[in-house]
Amino acid sequence: MRKLLLAFVALALGLAFAQVRTWDQIKRSGEVRIGTEGAFPPFNYFDEKNQLTGFEIDLGNALVAKLGVKPRWIAQAFDTLLIQLNQGRFDFVIASHGITPERAKAVDFTNPHYCTGGIIVSRKGGPKTAQDLAGKVVGVQVGTTYMEAAQKLPGVKEVRTYQKDPDALQDLLAGRLDAWVTDRFVAKEAIKERKLEGTLQLGELLFQEKVAMAVAKGNKTLLSALNQALADLMKDGTYAKISQKWFGEDVRCR
Ligand code: ARG
Repeated sequence: MRKLLLAFVALALGLAFAQVRTWDQIKRSGEVRIGTEGAFPPFNYFDEKNQLTGFEIDLGNALVAKLGVKPRWIAQAFDTLLIQLNQGRFDFVIASHGITPERAKAVDFTNPHYCTGGIIVSRKGGPKTAQDLAGKVVGVQVGTTYMEAAQKLPGVKEVRTYQKDPDALQDLLAGRLDAWVTDRFVAKEAIKERKLEGTLQLGELLFQEKVAMAVAKGNKTLLSALNQALADLMKDGTYAKISQKWFGEDVRCR
């Protein structure tokens, strides 16, 4: 009876506190759990067949293949990803996180897998510069560097936050926002994909950032395995091929 009870408690604890695994433990299990969001095209999103796809999915799969393990993708809300990472829910996260000093206190970042920036998007005739945003309503995804940047702009009337980035685009198109701040590649892709060239315009780049994968704080063995695999893909042409497929250019930091 006592044994059974103990087994139960152990099981419950195991479920409640999935553990942070070293690269050795991951390798022995044969499977790496990767956290992402799935609502940030063209980086990570669900396509019309409800398949997780995008630049980061291709890159993540290539990395894991290089490491000789199988991927298990887990999609969760963006603003919960780094917390769940430290709880051991995934082994690493690839979801377009810009490296910021604040995040770097909580998790460890790999070398960047691309470089980009936050850009202003508005309807034709709308605000294009940081100055133009004075007195305006700006939409951003919650927990992002765009939110941080928008909140720092002087004179903005309101920064409205959205659980998912495409919801801000919807509100911009519906006239409920004056501007949307998002990733420059995301904005470009949304305009092209939805044929909004005649409706929307791109404005000023508000900031630039280095985007990287994250592991739980202190997971050194996994961090170096990922960095090694990324460097290999950047050298052997795989990275260039994947980048070309999604952007028609090489988006690595230089
Ligand atoms: N690059 C921005 C940041 O670091 C946005 C990332 C959003 N990612 C996503 N999967 N929605 O905060």
